Amino acid sequence: MYNIKKAIIPAAGLGTRFLPITKAIPKPMLSVLDKPTIQYITEELTGVGIEEIIIVVSPGSDVIRNHFGKADDLERRLLADGKKELYDIEKETQKFNVKFVVQETANGLAGAILCAEQYVGNEPFALLLGDELLFAEGNEKPCIKRLIEIYQQTGKSVIATMEVFGDDVSKYGNIGIRDEKDGVMTVDRILEKPSINEALSNNAIIGRYVIQSGVMDKLKKLTPRKNELYFTDVLDELAEKGDLLASGFEGKRYDVGDKFGYIKANVEFALRSKEIGEDTKNYIKELSKKL
Ligand code: G1P
Repeated sequence: MYNIKKAIIPAAGLGTRFLPITKAIPKPMLSVLDKPTIQYITEELTGVGIEEIIIVVSPGSDVIRNHFGKADDLERRLLADGKKELYDIEKETQKFNVKFVVQETANGLAGAILCAEQYVGNEPFALLLGDELLFAEGNEKPCIKRLIEIYQQTGKSVIATMEVFGDDVSKYGNIGIRDEKDGVMTVDRILEKPSINEALSNNAIIGRYVIQSGVMDKLKKLTPRKNELYFTDVLDELAEKGDLLASGFEGKRYDVGDKFGYIKANVEFALRSKEIGEDTKNYIKELSKKL
């Protein structure tokens, strides 16, 4: 069986769309309800066999390291005050085996992945883009779990996709499909953000991938385009050999790199909250009468 033990989370975007908050706060620390988005993503990796998570950050992102590190004074204080529940919440942030690497220059997704090479080598890895939250509940299978299972059965790289229409087609990587069996598609081509006319299908690549071994070497050989290394170029190479699979996913995806997506995530997580869910629902009902 193919095994996967490492995960890379590229989270080095400067978040200029969110200025001024991102002037001093790194974008991955923006909170949905009471938790930074980067913690939700590490939590997606619970229970899927990942032993080490490599987060790729921009220079000056010490608060992200601090978030996953020890906080002795705070812990002592919470225990002394009898706030065991809050102590447990704080401790949760330390349960991940996280390593950090800094992406000094913004040179594309492939450039970010290459930064993690010292920890990943040529091993297979899961890849979770820091701007997206994937949420599964009840009987839904978490997206990354599904991708890992497909990889374990086939040894091939797998990407998660969703259907998009109209102008949205040009916002994502786009795939052409060779065939499909039991919800698993074999990809034959990839285009990065094509125009509607060029698009190969309505299947857009979202930010969850499982990548087979040997890909770091391929990344090193990439030629930059517009000063960026395009991960899509390597995916296209895999697709040509029939080594790239794709699958839809269960649950919901939130684009927290976008202001409206970020607000939607906050509203929906608030509605699910035990603490403020009921109040939020009543508030929205009242508010909607005035809209
Ligand atoms: C990246 C990928 C793109 C993918 C998208 C998913 O683009 O290059 O193929 O569809 O993530 O969010 P970005 O959003 O970083 O421009």
